[in-house]
Amino acid sequence: MIMPMVYPQADAVEGLKAAMRAYPAGVTVITAGKGEARRGLTATAFTSVTMEPPTVLVCVNRNGEAHRAITENGHFCVNILCQEALDVAESFAGMTGKTGADQFEGFEWVETNVGAPAYAFAQASVACELKEAIETGSHSIFIGEVREAALNPDRQPLLHYNRGFHAVGAVR
Ligand SMILES: Cc1cc2nc3c(=O)[nH]c(=O)nc-3n(C[C@H](O)[C@H](O)[C@H](O)COP(=O)(O)O)c2cc1C
Repeated sequence: MIMPMVYPQADAVEGLKAAMRAYPAGVTVITAGKGEARRGLTATAFTSVTMEPPTVLVCVNRNGEAHRAITENGHFCVNILCQEALDVAESFAGMTGKTGADQFEGFEWVETNVGAPAYAFAQASVACELKEAIETGSHSIFIGEVREAALNPDRQPLLHYNRGFHAVGAVR
């Protein structure tokens, strides 16, 4: 039997946080820039938008350095992480104490045709030219047109759910 919904939080912000914790999402690292000026962040706010033309969107906090790298370079690369890349996710979520370009250290990167770095062992990478930036509250919605996409077919994706990192499990 499906249990009835419970709304424990009167506050909309706390309620949304609780709802999003219950929503599993693939984990990406969004990168932009080159050399010492490259920046990145771990992000789950990623989705495809249209196929004609091929576009995606990401939601990025305006306070972070990666936000500036995306707007200044006019590009970004969405690196969809596999389970083996947990340490990459942690580095770019600020969990290791590293900041800025140092967050790239110890991982292998290749330059995409838009100039943004792609993680060499990502499950998939989607390199985009920045087409539109919509500011809304603390974040910008960046819409990018895909210029290059690569897939490592043998990997298993990394999920984020209920404040933890998880693997995919098939139900059927
Ligand atoms: C699982 C996970 C998902 C995240 N998703 C996003 C996101 O979609 N957009 C965003 O701006 N920040 C997101 N963040 C937060 C950034 O990764 C984080 O704020 C950024 O790396 C800066 O870290 P700092 O707060 O330690 O400086 C996410 C963090 C985690 C752990």
